[in-house]
Amino acid sequence: MRSTLILLFLLPLFSMAQQPSKKEMAKLIDENMQFAVKQYKVLQDSTPANRMPRSFQKGRSITSDTYWWCSGFYPGTLWYLYEYTKDANVRAEAERRLAILEKEKRHTGDHDIGFMIFSSFGNAYRITGDKKYKDVIDTAAVYQITRYRPAIHSIQSWNKSKNLNCPVIIDNMMNLEQLLWATEKGGDKKFREIAIIHANTTLKNHYRPDHSTFHIVDYDLSTGSIIKKVNGQGAHDTSAWSRGQAWGLYGYTMMYRFTKDAKYLSQAQGIAAFILNHPNLPADKIPYWDYNAPKIPTSRDASAGAIAASALLELGQYVGKTDKDKYVGAAVVMLRALSSDVYRAKLGENGGFILKNSVGSFLANSEVDVPLTYADYYFLEGLMRYKKWYL
Ligand code: GLY
Repeated sequence: MRSTLILLFLLPLFSMAQQPSKKEMAKLIDENMQFAVKQYKVLQDSTPANRMPRSFQKGRSITSDTYWWCSGFYPGTLWYLYEYTKDANVRAEAERRLAILEKEKRHTGDHDIGFMIFSSFGNAYRITGDKKYKDVIDTAAVYQITRYRPAIHSIQSWNKSKNLNCPVIIDNMMNLEQLLWATEKGGDKKFREIAIIHANTTLKNHYRPDHSTFHIVDYDLSTGSIIKKVNGQGAHDTSAWSRGQAWGLYGYTMMYRFTKDAKYLSQAQGIAAFILNHPNLPADKIPYWDYNAPKIPTSRDASAGAIAASALLELGQYVGKTDKDKYVGAAVVMLRALSSDVYRAKLGENGGFILKNSVGSFLANSEVDVPLTYADYYFLEGLMRYKKWYL
């Protein structure tokens, strides 16, 4: 009894002791960045000049054209690397990739123009201040809102298909940043209005009382009503697909940044609680591909961990000390895990990607336990955010 009491008293001290010092975090960030520059040279060398890296599977590099939704992440990651290292070769590679990506500023095939243009040109503009990059984002915002459907108060994510009439997916929250930013920087007020209407609709229709989200809400455009709420890349219709939960966490935190509307902060905190208190979240806080995966343990999704880590670091900026310590502490656990040999590749391996172990779509057996560009992107973003806000 007495030893149990002593242990209970000491536990908080132990967990505080496990939090790294600022010096240790600075070292961790620097080591990751120096590694990533070398590793991304391997990725660069294995990616043809007119293509973008996508993954590395069974010993083969997989690339994509710029139309693929992930085409902005490689240049975006390069910009984070340039921001940290000021390495001219990294910047030159980032600029070459932007040149082939620029045509996607008129992308209307789906909602992903925000991922494509804002992760890449957004960082380029933030870091260089060169107006030519801002012009690309401003054009992209104009094309992005062509998918706004007033009848459903949302931007349509994917086109009509055999099974879906007018699908809106939780991932779409991420694309709103480009619209809010464009208005804030002097663009049409409509961009921001549409982003807010979309975020409010998603909050109402995608979310369940426990702050987990459906992946897809399918609407009837003629009546504006919901046809069904279904699964896309998760385990089943009512499961919590890990990356979807992370997109939502990031999305509502970002909405609060631009609007200071308390309901977005409350939503982000609710999502954070769902993730961090989930009984199936492993000790290193890198989730399985779905919180309700049929068999646990199963494959982890490093991308969901990286996105959530980056989002939690921002959320920590907007809350009182107790919550801030909780969010930043959890993000640090995630970033340290991702920096370890368990998730991070060895130099020259993994096709030149930084992180291993992400999952695209588990049940479709597509991109399972492989590197993915967005895992690397949000991992480096998280490290940069830690450096900016907490060092
Ligand atoms: N936006 C697609 C995905 O997260 O897989």
